[in-house]
Formats: sequence, structure tokens, C-alpha cells
Amino acid sequence: MEWIFCSIDDIRVIRDNFDCGVPELNEYLKKYARQNQRKGIAKTWVAIPQDGDGQVAGYYAIGMAELERESLPENYKKGLPRYPLPVMRIGKLAVNQSMQGRRLGETLLIDAFNRVIRLSEDIGVLGVIVDALNEQAKGFYLQYGFIPLEGDELALFIPITRILEAFR
Ligand SMILES: CC(C)(COP(=O)(O)OP(=O)(O)OC[C@H]1O[C@@H](n2cnc3c(N)ncnc32)[C@H](O)[C@@H]1OP(=O)(O)O)[C@@H](O)C(=O)NCCC(=O)NCCS
Repeated sequence: MEWIFCSIDDIRVIRDNFDCGVPELNEYLKKYARQNQRKGIAKTWVAIPQDGDGQVAGYYAIGMAELERESLPENYKKGLPRYPLPVMRIGKLAVNQSMQGRRLGETLLIDAFNRVIRLSEDIGVLGVIVDALNEQAKGFYLQYGFIPLEGDELALFIPITRILEAFR
């Protein structure tokens, strides 16, 4: 299936029927994504099927965050300053239940990686963090090179160097 990636603000986008199976992620798309977009807290990008009516098939929300050096595994800490480090956060990522298993989750993640690659040309960004919803979601991210952070079982990180090597 071919997807169009566009902003949540695009007039073609229909959010009402989105259901990824996780109420919190459904609610975010319907209630908070546009507010947060307007306030500059997080930007939401959605995938709609190219030949569909604009129903959201999947989405992700990204914003900036900071990462404490101490939460990185020992071998990643070397040479890094002790003050908080700049990262992009994938705050949400979800695929409509009817579209799951068709590699849309992967396509959304790669789209987010392409955005951080572009960002990294203009501004310092050490990598990408994500707080996986649960152990199962953690398994999804680990496949793409994310590593677990210290002190939080579900917090994950991937260095920008790794993203550039694998996805540029
Ligand atoms: C997790 C989610 C985003 C994956 O999207 P998807 O489109 O179904 O996944 P894809 O088809 O792109 O799968 C890509 C790969 O990830 C694997 N995968 C998919 N869901 C997975 C999961 N929950 N755990 C581990 N691996 C998973 C697939 O098997 C596939 O691996 P393969 O290359 O070995 O076949 C989707 O199932 C979803 O929205 N779930 C509910 C919300 C959620 O948990 N979001 C995570 C936010 S923290």
C-alpha cells in the first residue's frame, strides 16, 4: 500500500475513527495532537492511504527533549559532557489496527529518522529517545537499533551516528 505522509493539520486528515488498540494513543491523536502542535510542544505526522479518504492509518508525534548523560550505558558516556544532552523524542507512534503488520510502523519510524537527520544538519542532536509503552512495544524499537537506557526499563535511545549510518 502507498502512503501519503502529512501534518495532522492537513485538511485531508480524518482522525475520528483511528483505533490502534491503545486508548491513550487513540485519545492523543483525537484530543491533544493539534493542541500540542499549535503550542509547539510536539509535531504530529500522519500517514493516510494514497487512494483513501484521508483516514489516519498511522501517526507519530515528535518533540525535543534532554537526556542525562548518567542514563546512558557506560560505553556511550565516554567523551560526553555532564550537562543534559539534546535529543529528539518520539512521544507517540501508532498504527490503526486494520493496518498493523503491513510495515507501516517501520515506515513511520523511518520517516521520523529522516526528520531528525535533516534537523541534525542545523542543530545539535545526540540521538532519539522513546518511552516504549510496554515490553511488546519495546521489542519493536529494539529491532531498529535502539538501546535500553539505565534506570527505566522502557526508556530507549538510538544515537544519531547510528541513524546516519543506517538510514541516510
Ligand atoms: C507497534 C506498532 C507501531 C507496530 O506497527 P506495525 O505496522 O504493526 O509494524 P510493522 O508491520 O512495521 O512491523 C515491523 C517489524 O516489527 C515487528 N513488530 C511489529 N509489532 C511489534 C511488537 N509489538 N513487538 C515486537 N515486534 C513488533 C514486526 O514483526 C516486523 O518485524 P519483521 O521485520 O521481523 O517482520 C503497532 O503494532 C501499534 O500501533 N501498536 C499499538 C500501539 C503501540 O504499541 N505503539 C508503540 C508506541 S510506544
